[in-house]
Amino acid sequence: MPLYVQLYRQLRAHILSGALPAGAAIPSSRTLAADLLVSRNTVEAAVTQLWAEGFVSRKVGVGTIVAATRTPPPLHGRQRGRTNGNERLGGTSAVPSNLPRLSPRGAAAAAAGQIELDSEAQADPCRVDVNPFPLATWNRLQSRVVRQYGGALLQVGHPLGDPQLRQAIAEHANLSRGIVCSAEQVVVLNSSQQGFDLIGRMLLAVNDTVLVEEPGYPSARAAFVGAGAMVQGIGVDADGIQAEHVWRHPDARLLYLTPSHQFPLGMTLSLDRRLALLEWAKSVGAWIVEDDYDSEFRHNGRPIAAMKGLDSDGTVIYMGTFNKVLFQSIRLAYLILPERLVGAFAAGRRLADGGAPTLTQATLALFISEGHFAAHLRRARKHYTARRDQMVRALQAAGGDRLSMESIETGLFLVAHLCDGRDDRPLALAAAGRGLGIAPLSRYYAEFDKTSFRATGLVCAFGGASHEGIRAACDALRPLLQQV
Ligand SMILES: Cc1ncc(COP(=O)(O)O)c(C=O)c1O
Repeated sequence: MPLYVQLYRQLRAHILSGALPAGAAIPSSRTLAADLLVSRNTVEAAVTQLWAEGFVSRKVGVGTIVAATRTPPPLHGRQRGRTNGNERLGGTSAVPSNLPRLSPRGAAAAAAGQIELDSEAQADPCRVDVNPFPLATWNRLQSRVVRQYGGALLQVGHPLGDPQLRQAIAEHANLSRGIVCSAEQVVVLNSSQQGFDLIGRMLLAVNDTVLVEEPGYPSARAAFVGAGAMVQGIGVDADGIQAEHVWRHPDARLLYLTPSHQFPLGMTLSLDRRLALLEWAKSVGAWIVEDDYDSEFRHNGRPIAAMKGLDSDGTVIYMGTFNKVLFQSIRLAYLILPERLVGAFAAGRRLADGGAPTLTQATLALFISEGHFAAHLRRARKHYTARRDQMVRALQAAGGDRLSMESIETGLFLVAHLCDGRDDRPLALAAAGRGLGIAPLSRYYAEFDKTSFRATGLVCAFGGASHEGIRAACDALRPLLQQV
C-alpha cells in the first residue's frame, strides 16, 4: 500500500477514534515529514485526502485542523441546496464543490473501497483454474432445470435463496464441515464480500470495534472499515490468532476469522483457541464471523471441522463460497446464521438486492444433490495437489535455502518466507504478470512491522496457474533471489 495511503489511514483512524479530537492541529507537512522520515509530498497527499473527505479543514494562517466528524447535525437543521454535504462533517467552504454528498459511512466506504480497487491490479491469490470444472455436466443440468421448471425460473426467487439449494448447502455443511443446521439458517448471497457488507449493515454501528487477524484478508477489513467500524488487528502465531489478546477488547462487537486456513499464513486455529474465542464472544456479547473460504481443497488428510460446529451459544456466523470451489463467475456464496439472526437478515437481504439468480441456484442445487459437486471436489483436489507440488519444486529450485515453506495442506496458495527478511515487494513485482499470482506477504499486514511473526514473503497462488506460468515466474525470481 502506498505510504501516503498508510499515513492517511492512520490519521483517519485517530480522528474517528477521537484520539485526534475536533479542533486538534495536524502538524505541518514539514514537521510530519521530518518526524516520519517520509517526503513532504507523501504527507501532503495524505492530508489532502483527509481534507477532500472532510476530516480536516485548512485555513491560511491557522494550518490544518481536525474537523468535527462525529456528531452530524439533526436532519431538519441541515441547510438545503448546497452542492456538497461536507459542511456537516465540519469542513469549511474551502471543500471542493464537485465532491458528491457522502455520509460519514459513505466516505469511509469510498476510501476503503478505493484502496481495494487500487490493489486489484496486484496479483490475486484467490484465482482458480476453470479447467477441472465439468462444464458439459453443468450445461446438461441447466437444460434439465429449464425443461423441468420452465417460466417459474424467470420469476424472482426467495430473497434468502432457492429452498432446494439452501437444503443442499445445509446437508453439505453437516456432512463435510460438522455443522448441525437447518436450511432456514442458510442465506444465499452473491459472494462472501456481499456477506461482509450485509453483516456490516446489520450488526455494526459507526465506531464499533471489529477485531481481525493481522495479517489478514484485506477485502474483509475494507468492508468493515467501509461500514464505519474501528478495525483492530490481532496478531497471529503458529497456532492461529492469539486468542488471549481478544480479552483486551471487551467492547468489541465482532471478530472476523479464517480458522480452517488462516489467510494468508495458512495455519489452522488450534482447538483450545477456538474454545477460548467462543467463550470470549459469549461473555462479551460479540459475534464471530468464520470465513471458511477454501477448506474443501484439503490436500492431505481429512478436512478440519468448522468452528461453527462448536458453537452452542449461537454466536458464530459461518461463511462459505462457491466462487472459489467451482468458478469465479458463478457468484454464489452463503452464510449459515445463528437462528436468532435469521429474521432480521432475511429482511436486510431483501433490502440489499432481492436475491441471487434463480436459474444458477437451481442448477447448483441439482449439481450438489446428484453428487457432481463431491465428484468435482475429488478431481479438483488431485489437480491442485499436482500444481502445489510443481510450485514447491520450482520455488525450491529458484530460491534454495533463501526460501522456506511450511507444508501446504489446504488451499490454492502457499507462502514462501524470505529467510533473510528482505523487502518482498520488488520480488513480487518482478514475478507478477507471468501467468502466476504472486503478492508480497507484507501487503496483508495493515500495520506492517518487519519484526512481526513471519513478516515478509511471497504469497504464491497456484490455483489459477499453468505449468508454463509457474516456470516463467520462478525463472524471473531466480536471479533476484540469488542476489545477496
Ligand atoms: C479469505 C477469503 N475469503 C473469501 C474469499 C472469496 O470471496 P468471494 O466469495 O467474495 O469471491 C477469498 C478469496 O477468494 C478469500 O481469500
